[in-house]
Amino acid sequence: MAARGVGLLTRWSLCSRRGRVHRPVFRLASSAGSAAADLGRDEQPPGSEVPGTEDKTPKKRFSEVQKERREQAQRTALIHCPNKISEKKFLKYLSQHGPIKNHFFYESFGLYALVEFCQKDGVDSLRHGSHTPSLSTEAAIPFRSRFFSLRQRNPSNQSSEQSCVKISSQVPPTNRKLFDVLYYAESVDDQLNNLLKAFELTEENTKLRYLTCSLIEDIAAAYFPSCTVRPFGSSVNTFGKLGCDLDMFLDLDEFRENTTNKNVGNFLMEFQVKSVPSERIATQKILSVIGECLDHFGPGCVGLQKILNARCPLVRFSHQPSGFQCDLTTNNRIALKSSELLYIYGALDSRVRALVFSIRHWARTHSLTSSIPGAWITNFSLTMMVIFFLQRRSPPILPTLDSLKSLAGAEDKCIIEGNNCTFLSDLNKIKPSGNTETLELLLKEFFEYFGNFAFNKNSINIRQGKEQNKPDSSPLYIQNPFETSLNVSKNVSQSQMQKFIDLARESAWILDQEDRASSDDRPWGLAALLLPSIISKSHAKRSKNKPASERVRSLLESIKQGNTADPASTDGERTMNTQT
Ligand code: GTP
Ligand code: MG
Repeated sequence: MAARGVGLLTRWSLCSRRGRVHRPVFRLASSAGSAAADLGRDEQPPGSEVPGTEDKTPKKRFSEVQKERREQAQRTALIHCPNKISEKKFLKYLSQHGPIKNHFFYESFGLYALVEFCQKDGVDSLRHGSHTPSLSTEAAIPFRSRFFSLRQRNPSNQSSEQSCVKISSQVPPTNRKLFDVLYYAESVDDQLNNLLKAFELTEENTKLRYLTCSLIEDIAAAYFPSCTVRPFGSSVNTFGKLGCDLDMFLDLDEFRENTTNKNVGNFLMEFQVKSVPSERIATQKILSVIGECLDHFGPGCVGLQKILNARCPLVRFSHQPSGFQCDLTTNNRIALKSSELLYIYGALDSRVRALVFSIRHWARTHSLTSSIPGAWITNFSLTMMVIFFLQRRSPPILPTLDSLKSLAGAEDKCIIEGNNCTFLSDLNKIKPSGNTETLELLLKEFFEYFGNFAFNKNSINIRQGKEQNKPDSSPLYIQNPFETSLNVSKNVSQSQMQKFIDLARESAWILDQEDRASSDDRPWGLAALLLPSIISKSHAKRSKNKPASERVRSLLESIKQGNTADPASTDGERTMNTQT
């Protein structure tokens, strides 16, 4: 879930209408987006690609990316550095342990360095060469991790020759930078692509996410030696933005497979297994123990909460050195498959991610989504809506899940808990869409489509790519692509749904006026949609007047989850909000 934003801009009068005032084209400096890199795409100037004509570079399978990133994380160390440091000496010292492939510095409650060695031996050597600190007032738990702290012997010597280290930012752009990004764009298409470039996860941030999982895996491995901790959700599905949470999945299947395969030889190894009444109880027990372990021994793990009675039990904590809010789950393999599916959809056409990022940003700005659980639409649901919309274009921009299933080979077959999760994993085999619609058109049509969608009787179904009758009376029904009897947006209330529809209609209207208006001095395109909305304000007022029901339910829900803040209850002031 996204972290909460900080800055607010109340007016945005500097924005000018495209094509009227020519300004030098300026783009936010950002490193090559990790998603683009993982997909094997070269960095391209935003908007340079003609819609529907994708580059021909082979794109990696999701499993290949996961494997490569995981291996990279295993030969990486995290080092807490003194604020004044000589980069040259630092690298010279570390090189004694093995050649270094890559490194960068960043800030999160202090200065940190992520150091990637060429081989895993480098980290092992560093680990063996380090010692447990002796603390005068507290006792240290001697857990050997890959998270180190560098102490300088002679800090005074260092400061005199201190070099200025380059800091890699791990936070989303400020609203001022976003303002520039949209202000200097030349077209609405440019605006959407620029917003994507500004907010997508960077290469460094992605490395930090995989490393954090790897560090947590080291701790969990004390109990389950062959376990794997894998990132899933927006950290890996190419729809994550800087500041998004880190969803982790404790995978014990390898452990189970290793133990069940032990009976192939002459020896039948017998295990004394403690059994519990259900899979859910087993999950709760495992998470409870790992949670305790992280709380007591996990370097940098703070504010741990066990949320074991949720539909999907989890352990939530902050990983202070990386700055990530982490949600650790287990027995959640379908979510990993959903991440792979979104990765494929994100890779198939460059317009998909640009549209999703802008619509998610629009939704966050108008408090349609929130960082806490409640009756509002989630980013995951919004992404499904965009995918569905793109499947409905003529010709379709994205294939249906059923057609991805029909293209699948024998190696793609995947059944999880009786659910058929089979689809093609090699995205290079999918024919690109012949649709050449612009992002500007798609944005407008998205709002028109969902502003007029028969939510009262129809459901959204990306498996078949067509509307279907709703099986129940939920205000928003989006069929879970793999557990097809479930609704992924079951939590959404009628009033939140109405707010979404009203805002979608308003946004379609604003973009329509854009086509006709000729004034130079007002915000335009995407910028106009991020301005405070009269609709948000009236919904906020109405929701404040509602004494019990929905608001109380949401509040109780958030208290249960251990949160007290309620960002979705903002007063709807028309402000431009660059929430992270
Ligand atoms: P952020 O808001 O950026 O964190 O997006 P996210 O996609 O990571 O969403 P979130 O952290 O809420 O959930 C993580 C992952 O869990 C999603 O990407 C989905 O794969 C899965 N997920 C979330 N909500 C649902 C749901 O209601 N049903 C199902 N089947 N999966 C869900
Ligand atoms: Mg997430």
